[in-house]
Amino acid sequence: MLEIKVLTLFPDMVRTVLETSILGRAARQGQVSYTVTDIRDFAVDKHRTVDDTPYGGGAGMIMMAPCVVEGVEAVRRDDRSPVVLTSPQGERLDESLALDLLAGAEAHGELILVCGHYKGVDERARELLAMREVSIGDYVLSGGELPALVIIDAIVRRVDGVLHDAASAASDSFTDGRDGGLDCPHYTRPPVYRGLEVPEVLLTGHHAKIDAWRCEEAARRTRERRPDLVGERDRGPETGH
Ligand code: ADE
Repeated sequence: MLEIKVLTLFPDMVRTVLETSILGRAARQGQVSYTVTDIRDFAVDKHRTVDDTPYGGGAGMIMMAPCVVEGVEAVRRDDRSPVVLTSPQGERLDESLALDLLAGAEAHGELILVCGHYKGVDERARELLAMREVSIGDYVLSGGELPALVIIDAIVRRVDGVLHDAASAASDSFTDGRDGGLDCPHYTRPPVYRGLEVPEVLLTGHHAKIDAWRCEEAARRTRERRPDLVGERDRGPETGH
């Protein structure tokens, strides 16, 4: 079972999401387990201080190294296990980074995520823990909890057996099934809604034609909306799964 360990200043916020929907089901089914730890429990003074002003002056507060380092050391089983720090300065998350993080986590049986806060974390904590910084996109959020949950969701849904409909997952956007590009449009009942009809081919029951239509539409969407993804497959296959 894959153990996911989150260090955060807002444990309730993280726990709520981890109990919900597919993330919660994966834990109830025993495919993953979650441990949520309050970084404040590792503060070294009686006021439970976790941040301080930066050396050299300037704006913002910095998360102190001791509470982060000692928090991580307290929860990890193996000092080579991957530790991820959420940060806008990190590698940008995409499906292939999610698979890479999953492979590293599965190799050690655990993944530790530190939710960054304030202006950042004392650089020595990053160094001492060999943390890998991951960003979920080029925008700044108020804290690392949402990014950590995004990273966990992207990883856990790729753990074998978590998604019941493997065939559906195999044609999601950014997967090999879509050549690394976007998914096609989808329709369900009713067949006509406010005068808009479902494309006829989808009602024929002709699976080869339906597959061809879906591939073509997926490729069209990718060209129109994400030309940067065209030819993604030529740049190298997905690894791991
Ligand atoms: N913390 C604040 N913004 C973030 C982002 N975009 N990605 C990861 N962590 C962050």
